[in-house]
Amino acid sequence: MTELATLRLDADDRGLDRAAAILGAGGLVAFPTETVYGLGANACNGRAVARIFAAKGRPRFNPLIVHLAEAQAARAFVAWSDKAETLATRFWPGPLTLVLPLLPGSPISPLVTADLPSLALRVPAHPLARALLRRFGGPVAAPSANPSGRISPTNADHVAAGLSGRIEAILDGGPCPVGVESTIVGLTDDTPRLLRPGGLASEEIEAALGCPLATSGPEVTAPGQLASHYAPTAPVRLNATGKRPGERLLGFGAVAEADLNLSPSGDLTEAAANLFAMLHRIDDGTVPIAVSPIPETGLGRAINDRLRRAAAPRD
Ligand code: TXA
Ligand code: MG
Repeated sequence: MTELATLRLDADDRGLDRAAAILGAGGLVAFPTETVYGLGANACNGRAVARIFAAKGRPRFNPLIVHLAEAQAARAFVAWSDKAETLATRFWPGPLTLVLPLLPGSPISPLVTADLPSLALRVPAHPLARALLRRFGGPVAAPSANPSGRISPTNADHVAAGLSGRIEAILDGGPCPVGVESTIVGLTDDTPRLLRPGGLASEEIEAALGCPLATSGPEVTAPGQLASHYAPTAPVRLNATGKRPGERLLGFGAVAEADLNLSPSGDLTEAAANLFAMLHRIDDGTVPIAVSPIPETGLGRAINDRLRRAAAPRD
């Protein structure tokens, strides 16, 4: 692949115009969302979408999320339902992705869905993401803007470190406020399913639906299913109640010997926002990383999911 000169675009009208023009011409633009930076391409342009997989080194069987400026636009692509309406009304724009049955004849490239009969959709809340989607005026396929299997980017420097030379531009919107990827809910049959814990607590979704979310099902094709995902280069040890010799400790709560602390006060929202940036900072490639226990509730589910993948055996 030839090296591209990756542009760094400012978060202003000129930057947004340029970013939208690049998407229109079939190029790749990394842009901020409230969760993590996404690597965007025109979802209806198969060649542009193919370039996402090439730039990330992502396996083709792993489908992409399509980003929309407005919830109403979803009905052009998927079979909408009462449950979808309930969740979209309550949580869009926001850190929630809905997987719904793909409508026949949809203009979305089959590469986006990896030929599945369903499509993942989300309306992000970040003002720059929304401004870019409005200017572009169509559906944008965007996985997290990191090389496949590495930690997701929560600022423009993370994106540049992983993808410079492989993409046309990075729209710099500063750090992402939520810090972990969206929660993915499958609505392809009568049973709503949690396909990936994320930036919206599953408790809130269950309260809005008035029923529990199933956590697995026959058709779960989903989320970062490769066991070793979000991996720092150094080894990771979870639920560490103390620091062993030669380790760096990523703390949570009142932990005395932490090298970095996700949230000294034990706040899960703050910890989620810090998670990937601190994993990037603490990882020097060799020194083992120990991580304090995180409660398995609210955003803690998403944090623990990413940490378990970070600690999984590598290929
Ligand atoms: O917060 C986010 O969701 C970020 C920002 C950029 O929007 N995006 C993101 O994309 O995390 P990515 O590609 O890293 O993760 C998308 C996940 C993948 O694990 C994929 O398997 C799942 O969504 N997915 C996509 N389409 C699906 C489908 N039709 N059925 C089940 N899972 C699907
Ligand atoms: Mg990802």
